[in-house]
Amino acid sequence: MSVRIEPVRPDFVARVSDVDLVNGMDDSTFALLRRALDDYSILVFADQPMDDRCQIEFSSWWGQAEPTKGVNPASGTVFARQSNLDINTGAIIPPDDRRMAYQTGNYQWHADSTFKPLPSLCSILTAREVPREGGNTEFVSTRTAYDTLSDELRNTVEDLIVEHDLSFSRGRVGFTFTPEEAALHPPVRHPLLQVNPVTGRRSLLVGAHAARIVGWPLEKGRALLDELLAHATTPQAIYSHRWRHGDVVIWDNRSTLHRATAYDAARFRRLMQRTTIGNPDVLNTPAYQRIRAQQTSTDNT
Ligand code: SIN
Repeated sequence: MSVRIEPVRPDFVARVSDVDLVNGMDDSTFALLRRALDDYSILVFADQPMDDRCQIEFSSWWGQAEPTKGVNPASGTVFARQSNLDINTGAIIPPDDRRMAYQTGNYQWHADSTFKPLPSLCSILTAREVPREGGNTEFVSTRTAYDTLSDELRNTVEDLIVEHDLSFSRGRVGFTFTPEEAALHPPVRHPLLQVNPVTGRRSLLVGAHAARIVGWPLEKGRALLDELLAHATTPQAIYSHRWRHGDVVIWDNRSTLHRATAYDAARFRRLMQRTTIGNPDVLNTPAYQRIRAQQTSTDNT
């Protein structure tokens, strides 16, 4: 079987077929997929029905899946459960339940786990139960967003560092953490500009968790973050994935943003399981060394 990789747009989103993710891969197949992620940022697979064990096995090809902690019902595992179904009973959760309120945070454009100190390489989302209508996931390329910035804005973003904060992003949709929950995810810093080490292409790490630009007045920083987000997420930039049972989508959290979209959660069942893979290598790059040096000098003053 030779893997077929068909771009949806020239450098954003590819449909991958003639591959079996469920019964195991070999090294050369994985090498093709890994390169395709660098080239297209999003890989879409159909008819790959995974259970949790299979997803853990598949995820391990990409790196270490990060543990989930906090409010997600799968906390304590490597899964982030995106669902309106109670994890114990399988019954539909009432729409006014706090667990559903938490998930509305995912209706905002974001890259996964930017509120954590370890940056993420990619996420893997598998469709287990799919609503008859709605519940698409939408994606944009922050690489295209960077490529289409004005020269002036490219110069502006070059060395900026951004504080990412989960309490900030959930606060924007009216969700409040208890002090204990908030303490699990203190604000963290990442470079605004991401550089793919294989392709050399640059992208913007923005999105809902991006709260403040370090060293800038709050309002000025917010204005720039909002401007960059609006630039990245114009309607024509969006790829909208309509889910079918057995779909698997992998996205590069360095070069894309995504958001969940609404569905009738009182009527339809939706169960998606996400694993998110850490990217420890990036911590050795000059941008992260600069962040650590800045924090050390602040801590010592
Ligand atoms: C996510 O935001 O990571 C999940 C997206 C979705 O449930 O569609």
